[in-house]
Amino acid sequence: MPIEPPLTGQDGIATQFDLTASNTFGLPAIAAGYVAISDTARIGDLIARADWAGTPKLVLGGGSNLILAGDVAGLVLKVEIKGRQLTGEDESFRYVRAGAGENWHEFVRWTLAQGWGGLENLSLIPGTVGAAPIQNIGAYGVELERRFHSLEAVALSDGRPRTFDREACGFAYRDSVFKQGEAGCWLISSVTFALPKQWSPDLGYAELARELAGSGVRAPTPRQVSDAVIAIRRRKLPDPAEIGNAGSFFKNPVVDARDFQALIARSPDMPHYPQPDGRHKLAAGWLIEQCGWKGRDLGPVGCFERQALVLVNRGGARGADVLRCAAAIQADVRARFGVRLEPEPVFIS
Ligand code: EPU
Repeated sequence: MPIEPPLTGQDGIATQFDLTASNTFGLPAIAAGYVAISDTARIGDLIARADWAGTPKLVLGGGSNLILAGDVAGLVLKVEIKGRQLTGEDESFRYVRAGAGENWHEFVRWTLAQGWGGLENLSLIPGTVGAAPIQNIGAYGVELERRFHSLEAVALSDGRPRTFDREACGFAYRDSVFKQGEAGCWLISSVTFALPKQWSPDLGYAELARELAGSGVRAPTPRQVSDAVIAIRRRKLPDPAEIGNAGSFFKNPVVDARDFQALIARSPDMPHYPQPDGRHKLAAGWLIEQCGWKGRDLGPVGCFERQALVLVNRGGARGADVLRCAAAIQADVRARFGVRLEPEPVFIS
């Protein structure tokens, strides 16, 4: 059935809004209401509006870590709050704030253009600044929490503002309070980062160190580290502008020491990363590849041929197709290794 063009009222709220272009997996879904927020003052008005007051609110950034399993019955708040500025400095740090609607990678490159290092390992991650703390984005040995200072958010229940410091965010591997107990409660409006004045490159991730050494760089600048990260990502990860995906589809599982011993005895070449608490993080992409899924499709959803951790839209996929493919992969990994894979994106059903 053809989709009617959205009707946008004077208040800027569109009804029956097609979200296909608003999520990087390209999944079709219709939102009952959709409104762009470029100013936090509007949120209070929207919450108070009788016709949308009782409906659930879904906050949308770049839609790059989102699986839309079906239509959205509530009001989508598309965050378009812009702005980036140096807000202060002390002996150790520069404090830099960005509006939640800024594109993450453009923000990273802007900090580098100012000569401020700190975010370079997180280059080219899709999505917005406001979404970054929700899943504590991480790549090439650095997680957002290491550079995080605080964030401003507005309660979706009553419009009250609140500042969250690092502790209040409860950061963990690809996790925060915004995915747990506070999920669906806040609209993040800006994020402030603490960028170190004494910068040194973080090259603990072997592939990154190899990439720089391979291009003959011995004492890299933040921008050179960023360029190397971009080169690696372009080689391995699909560009959501070309092929629908939501980045890593599963978290790398962490297993206790006993389970790890049993697994490594069976598969001595299994990549693993010891954790400070004695457990071991495993590479979900490797486990999935061992089960024969790399490059394999189930209906219109596929397991990407260059990185098995990424599921891709081969064309025309719907939310249910993604869930089916993910469940089949989880079942195979469970059967072969006894390891439970936990999805990484946020699911909206
Ligand atoms: N591997 C395979 N087959 C694959 C994929 C990976 O054998 O198909 C092996 C690799 O050879 C390597 C190990 O698994 O030994 C780890 O692979 P890789 O370095 O590609 O990283 P990853 O653990 O698969 C994580 C993040 C990525 C991030 C990279 C680099 C998670 C869930 N994913 O992937 O994050 O870019 O490390 O730091 O932690 C994302 O979150 O969307 C994302 C792309």
